[in-house]
Amino acid sequence: MAHKLVAQKLAQIGQSGVLRFYDDLEVAGKEKIMMQLESLDLAMIAELIETQVKTKAAIALPQDIQPAQAYARTPQGEQKEFYAKARARGEELLNQGKVAAFLVAGGQGTRLGYDGPKGEYPVTPVKNKPLFQVFAEQLLGRARTHGKPIPWYVMTSDANDAASRAFFHRHGYFGYNEDDVFFFQQGMMPAFGFNGEMLLVEDDSLALSPDGHGGSLRALYKSGALADMQKRGIEHLSYFQVDNPLVQCIDPLFIGLHDLTGSEMSSKTVRKAAALEKVGNFCIADGRLQVIEYSDLPEELAKSANPDGSLRFNAGSIAIHALRVSFIDRLNAGGHLSLPWHRAEKKVPYVNAKGVTIKPEKPNAVKLEQFVFDAIPLAENPIVYETDRAEEFSPVKNAEGPDSPDTCRRDQVRRACRWLEAAGVTDIPKLNNEPDCNLEISPLYAVSKDQLVAKKPRMVAIKSGQSVYVEK
Ligand code: UTP
Repeated sequence: MAHKLVAQKLAQIGQSGVLRFYDDLEVAGKEKIMMQLESLDLAMIAELIETQVKTKAAIALPQDIQPAQAYARTPQGEQKEFYAKARARGEELLNQGKVAAFLVAGGQGTRLGYDGPKGEYPVTPVKNKPLFQVFAEQLLGRARTHGKPIPWYVMTSDANDAASRAFFHRHGYFGYNEDDVFFFQQGMMPAFGFNGEMLLVEDDSLALSPDGHGGSLRALYKSGALADMQKRGIEHLSYFQVDNPLVQCIDPLFIGLHDLTGSEMSSKTVRKAAALEKVGNFCIADGRLQVIEYSDLPEELAKSANPDGSLRFNAGSIAIHALRVSFIDRLNAGGHLSLPWHRAEKKVPYVNAKGVTIKPEKPNAVKLEQFVFDAIPLAENPIVYETDRAEEFSPVKNAEGPDSPDTCRRDQVRRACRWLEAAGVTDIPKLNNEPDCNLEISPLYAVSKDQLVAKKPRMVAIKSGQSVYVEK
């Protein structure tokens, strides 16, 4: 019966082709493809095929693009008092248990090429802790400081959900209370041929991929995660991505600035490493704060400079946000999340009409994704706050080269070295001004430089080449 209804809907939108092998499938195969199809919003897909797949919708660039002003990393003059209030407010919200952590880990991690969820990837320089553990311990450390558990929402996708949950389970949730970890899956989108037909990757399976980190805002709602937050009295979510172990999963000052300014969605930024660095740019576009991707920001603007020579568009996006729970609720009003879709042409293997698998050598398909930062222009009073790249951003994206495990481990060691030196450990061996040893600080010991300084760690002399784990 369900099958008939789905078949009918498919016929209405000219997509019956995905059922061409259906009659010959085993029961399990039949169930599989039906489940995939039932999870899709076929009416929306029909519309997207016309507007985004068959035609390339021209992206209307804003008329007027100005640089965004960020809250400074270090406050000056009168701002100091406001920052002190903001930090106190952030701490108060944490003490009251009104802040939750939100990790998006549904991506495919194709560039890293690790066979499993990226969160399993061993990333720390001394203990080789996986990314999931780094975040868990940091959140536990934070929760202990504030005397309240921090609920943790973890978004996965079909491809890595079971493996991610099993990994947490195998490791005893890294000390986290199981009831405070809420896993949920994001939505999937089919890949389309250029003629608009949904592609099959097997006789019994659509070529599906996650619907982008923007899909998290819909998935929070659809999965019941949002309702869970409301039940727990959570007011703010601290959003971070699975690939950056340097992130402050929850930063009281950032949360406080977000709350006191009445911002519905706030973002951290770092100064760009170069004019054309491949990061999104925070801009005021036609009067509204938004992120313009590096590929969309006209080059003459990206390269334009202030009188002192600094870049005019210097606020890079590092995908760390704070969101009001009420904002996410509002975005989903009417059961429909209206974020734009981004179109990418990709090589997607598929089964052709004769049942032969084709591995294309050039792009043959369109994938559609939503991006979380597209919610910023929909938010009231959105703010941007500048942080220090060296302290908070070193993602693991690629297997080697920039943004790889090597650069990330190096940056973790450099940061640990800076924190230890700030805490009075002065004899760290150096070679060419770089730490000549392996250093790792347990987040259960200190989650921030200030905490480490306050702990006054007593260390024995570190030797060149030594690996040191600081946990007391
Ligand atoms: P990336 O843009 O780096 O994509 O995701 P990716 O899929 O992880 O990696 P590549 O491009 O295939 O190499 C940035 C963050 O957003 C999450 C990822 O898990 C990562 O934390 N993400 C991305 C999702 O949760 N869902 C998505 O659909 C896409």
